[in-house]
Parts: sequence; structure tokens; C-alpha cells
Amino acid sequence: MTDALLRCSKLSKSYQDGNNEVTVLKDIDFSLQAGEMVAVVGTSGSGKSTFLHLLGGLDKASGGQLFYKTDEMTHWKADKLAQWRNQNLGFVYQFHHLLPEFSALENVAMPQMIAGKSPAEAKRQAKQLL
Ligand SMILES: Nc1ncnc2c1ncn2[C@@H]1O[C@H](COP(=O)(O)OP(=O)(O)OP(=O)(O)O)[C@@H](O)[C@H]1O
Ligand SMILES: [Mg+2]
Repeated sequence: MTDALLRCSKLSKSYQDGNNEVTVLKDIDFSLQAGEMVAVVGTSGSGKSTFLHLLGGLDKASGGQLFYKTDEMTHWKADKLAQWRNQNLGFVYQFHHLLPEFSALENVAMPQMIAGKSPAEAKRQAKQLL
């Protein structure tokens, strides 16, 4: 068996609500192989978005470990996580978070431009993706 592309072990997330700590995710073990397609289902408020935000390096877990291939991401600093997201992750938000000042094409091209591609090359690739 090959290493998982993305994997978590005992991943937990709690939010502070006034004096109360609300635990949304507790000890989640999960792994995703390259090319695998997975749907996470559950009732509203059960923690799906919270889970995806942790897996996508958009939010920090309260406990547990997260791995990309064999690298442990759990303690990566913000700039390393940002670079990883730029190069490896596509995230379609529940609330879309598009940049309203830019066209659809420019929104798709943006990550490539941030990664250093020329605007022309980024737009050419964005057109293909769209
Ligand atoms: N930033 C936050 N601060 C406090 N509580 C939060 C925060 N984000 C989410 N929660 C709580 O965590 C729980 C899980 O929320 P989450 O958005 O992950 O659920 P969901 O499964 O994606 O729901 P939906 O199907 O409605 O999108 C909810 O009780 C929510 O109120
Ligand atoms: Mg959600």
C-alpha cells in the first residue's frame, strides 16, 4: 500500500464559547489516497466544514496530527502552510469567497500569479481550467 496523500490521526477541534469549551471534532482518524474521491456527510453543524478547514490547512487543530504524504504538517508555520495550499490545494468554499473586484478568469488565475507565473500564462491556464 502506498502512503496516503493526506492523513490525520486523532484530530480534534474545540471552540471557546464564553467560558465553555465546545468540542466539534474529537479524535478523528482519516486518510485519503491520491486519486481517491471522498464525500463527508453529516447533519448541519456536525463539523464537516470544520474538518475540511483543518485538512486543507486553513485552520489549526486543537489536537492530533495532520500529514501530507510523509510530512507532518501539524506544526508548520503560516507561510509554509500558505505555500503548500497555493501549490497543492483547491478549495471551493461553502460561501464562495470570490474576489468581487476581479473577473471569473482572474479569480481562477490568481493562485498561479501568486505562485509567480506571468499574468498572461496564468490566464492561459485559467482559461483551460474553466
Ligand atoms: N469559529 C467558530 N467559533 C465557534 N463555533 C464554531 C465556529 N465555527 C464553527 N463552529 C461550530 O462548530 C460546529 C460545526 O460547524 P461546521 O460549520 O463545521 O458544521 P457543518 O457540518 O459544516 O454544517 P453545515 O452543514 O451547516 O455547513 C457548529 O456547532 C458551529 O456552530
Ligand atoms: Mg459546512
